[in-house]
Amino acid sequence: MKAAETIWMDGKLVPWDEAKVHILTHSLHYGNSAFEGTRAYKGEKGLAIFRLQDHTKRLLRSAKITLIDCPYSVEALESAQIELLKANHFEGNVYIRPIIFLGYGVMGVYHKAAPVNVSIAAWEWGAYLGDEGIEKGIRVKISSFTRNSIRSTMGKAKAGANYLNSQMAKFEAIESGYEEALLLDEEGFVAEGSGECFFIVRDGVLISPPNENSLESITQATVIELAHDLGIPVERRRLTRDEVYVSDEAFFTGTAAEVTPVREIDARAIGNGGRGPITQRLQSAYFDVVYGRNPKYHHYLTTLN
Ligand SMILES: Cc1ncc(COP(=O)(O)O)c(C=O)c1O
Repeated sequence: MKAAETIWMDGKLVPWDEAKVHILTHSLHYGNSAFEGTRAYKGEKGLAIFRLQDHTKRLLRSAKITLIDCPYSVEALESAQIELLKANHFEGNVYIRPIIFLGYGVMGVYHKAAPVNVSIAAWEWGAYLGDEGIEKGIRVKISSFTRNSIRSTMGKAKAGANYLNSQMAKFEAIESGYEEALLLDEEGFVAEGSGECFFIVRDGVLISPPNENSLESITQATVIELAHDLGIPVERRRLTRDEVYVSDEAFFTGTAAEVTPVREIDARAIGNGGRGPITQRLQSAYFDVVYGRNPKYHHYLTTLN
C-alpha cells in the first residue's frame, strides 16, 4: 500500500503515521464495524469519486444494521471524503476506505456504551485482481466455505465481522493456486465472490444471482444499467455451479475488482478461456463511466472542486 499524507479521524486530518487506535479498541476484539470501499478515478476533470452518495448511504445503512450509532450524516461524511482527497496530493486513481467502529473504553460483548469512532483513509491503488486479470481474466475456485448464512449474519451490511468468511475463502483459493474464490450459499447456489458479485453470459443473456446472499453491489447495479443501454438482456436468477461451468463468459464486479473477467473455474475453461466479447463491452462501458467519458453518467461522479 502506498501511504498518503493524512487520514481523516473523527473530524480532523491526522498525519498518516499518527492515525492510531488503542489496543483495547472494541472493534478489534469483537469485529463489529461498518466500512466502505469507494474509488476515485483521475479523468479529464481531475479526480472524481464514483457514486460517492450511494457508497456513503450504504455505509450508514451498514452501521444501522450492526447497531452502531454514527454521529455523522451522509452529507458530513461526503464532505469529509472530498476534504481528504483535496488535502492529499494524489497522482493516480484512489481507493477510499471509510470505517465506523467501536472505540476504546468498554470491554465485553455488549457494546451499547462503547464510543463510536469514524475514520476515512485514502490511498493510490491499482487493479485489485491485477492488470493482467482485467485483460486476460482470472482463475477461480468454488470455495469449500459456504457464504455466511443469512440466518446468523447480515450480508446487507458491509461489516468487518462478515469478512472472516471472505478472508478464509480468499486464502484457500490463493493457496490452492487460484486468484479468487466463488462462494455458494447454504443451498448450493452461487452467492458471490470474496469481495465481488458474479455474472455469467449464456446465449447472449447476462445472468447475475439476486442479492439475497450477497452485498447489494453498486458496481453490479451499474453494470446492469450499462447492459440495458447496450441492449444486452439481463436476468436475475439463481445459478448452480454446473451452469457456471458451461457458461460462455463469466466475470466479477466490485468497486475494487471493477469488471474482472473469469477465464477458468475449477479447471474448466470458461468460453474461449479469456475475456469474452460481452464482458469486454461491459468492462469498457464501465471504464468510460468511471473516467467521465459517458455524459449520461456524469451524475455518478463527484469532482473535488
Ligand atoms: C462481499 C462483497 N460482495 C460484493 C462486493 C461488491 O460491492 P460494490 O460493487 O458495491 O463494491 C463487495 C465489495 O464491496 C464485497 O465485499
